[in-house]
Amino acid sequence: MNQTDQAVYSDTVVRQFSIMAVVWGVVGMLVGVVIASQLAWPELNFGIPWLTYGRLRPLHTNAVIFAFGGCALFATSYYVVQRTCHTALFLPKLAAVTFWGWQLVILAAAISLPLGYTQGKEYAELEWPIDILIAVVWVSYAIVFFGTLGIRKVKHIYVANWFFGAFIIAVALLHIVNSAAIPAGWMKSYSAYAGAQDAMIQWWYGHNAVGFFLTAGFLGMMYYFIPKQAERPVYSYRLSIVHFWALIFTYMWAGPHHLHYTALPDWTQSLGMVFSLVLLAPSWGGMINGIMTLSGAWHKLRDDPVLRFLIVSLSFYGMSTFEGPMMAIKTVNALSHYTDWTVGHVHSGALGWVGLVSMGSLYFLVPKLFGQKKMYSVPAIELHFWMATIGIVLYIAAMWIAGVMQGLMWRAINEDGTLTYTFVESVKATYPFYVIRFAGGLLYLGGMLIMLWNVIKTALQGEAPLVSIPAPAHA
Ligand code: HEM
Ligand code: HEM
Repeated sequence: MNQTDQAVYSDTVVRQFSIMAVVWGVVGMLVGVVIASQLAWPELNFGIPWLTYGRLRPLHTNAVIFAFGGCALFATSYYVVQRTCHTALFLPKLAAVTFWGWQLVILAAAISLPLGYTQGKEYAELEWPIDILIAVVWVSYAIVFFGTLGIRKVKHIYVANWFFGAFIIAVALLHIVNSAAIPAGWMKSYSAYAGAQDAMIQWWYGHNAVGFFLTAGFLGMMYYFIPKQAERPVYSYRLSIVHFWALIFTYMWAGPHHLHYTALPDWTQSLGMVFSLVLLAPSWGGMINGIMTLSGAWHKLRDDPVLRFLIVSLSFYGMSTFEGPMMAIKTVNALSHYTDWTVGHVHSGALGWVGLVSMGSLYFLVPKLFGQKKMYSVPAIELHFWMATIGIVLYIAAMWIAGVMQGLMWRAINEDGTLTYTFVESVKATYPFYVIRFAGGLLYLGGMLIMLWNVIKTALQGEAPLVSIPAPAHA
């Protein structure tokens, strides 16, 4: 990118979202570390209702998924769609509305969740007025993104945009259907659905939040930033198209694996299990396509920490998308469900895949956005990489061991049919693993703080404009 590009593209909004992704990453992970410490030392809520685990946990999940992940997705999709369509954003003023609107949503979440306002649906806790604001921002996002595709100067729509586009459409659909509720006051509502239907719709939403918010959008990042950073074309463009259609078709059906052995009709559970197993194929196809893009350029991994972030994220993606289908098998789920194994799985995807791919993409973006050749400190990126990687390994290894141990302890039976262990014995046995997870989380957060420092230094060094430059018609 050069100065001319800066005049052509609408990058103010990209800069704003990039900076806020890093800021919200620090905040969300800090809350993660706080709740991890509360699980080891429960008195750390100091008896203050706003700081209790039950209120901070949804604050953590909302902050990391929607604030950190969301801002990273807005930033990268707006950047990528302009570069691959050779045009500025369609309606840049509406893009600015999406930035300020999204920050307002985050602020409303940060205030309402600790105050105890919640719909009680995981990843969809926010009350109805905030849900309406989310829908407005999201529809505006769709108009900007698809509008930009509409005014593109090249015939072809690059595959990264297909993934970003599917993510935008699917999240709109999921959010609007799952949030349908009857208001009973300004911050109180009742779900439009009841009983098993409510559960089914919630986990259709929940699983596809993973599939589209935490996966498809980030695959869009993968398909743009890995080839760019490696300076190689995508390994197989044909595979990327098969990957796209297979992935988006299969994800939609897998939700019931979150509700095994519940009141859901048995056949829906089996269907969810089968589709989860099928999902292994497109997931690994995509991962292989990303990693093999490095063919002939493997040596770059040795001294390019940004590329390392991107490629290691794919190894964690491969790991969690192998583990997920296994956990979806009903007999395996009978052991893993309710245990910390699930939390380990979540964070190998969240810290390993979502976290690292976002960080790699932002390290690529930030210097370019601020008119610099590279980040202020490359050794700091290296340090961040190792802190994050060691942090993830500590976190997920501790949770796997704790999870399998809990599952086995809960099902152990004496000869006379009584339980071998009381529940509290399993809690006591888990204690050291909660301390290890806390240490891993602290390392991961430490890496993120280094990133924040590095990003601020890079931004201050750059002479790039923080104000909007009107985009002239593209030559
Ligand atoms: C410093 C890093 C982090 C720490 C220490 C941390 C810690 C935690 C803790 C203690 C929980 C609650 C587990 C439980 O209820 O037993 C949790 C849940 C969760 N976290 Fe994190 N987290 C971190 C980063 C992230 C990131 C970056 C993401 C997503 C991008 C994420 C997504 C989630 C999700 C989805 C859950 C809910 C899991 C479930 O319901 O099974 N976390 N986290
Ligand atoms: C082929 C891909 C995947 C499959 C088939 C899959 C399957 C599963 C299964 C079976 C569970 C446990 C459900 C339960 O017992 O409650 C689960 C939980 C979860 N997975 Fe995955 N997973 C996949 C990939 C991923 C990835 C890549 C991420 C993150 C980026 C992720 C995030 C989560 C979250 C957040 C939960 C916890 C939901 C909750 O209970 O709150 N999954 N997944």
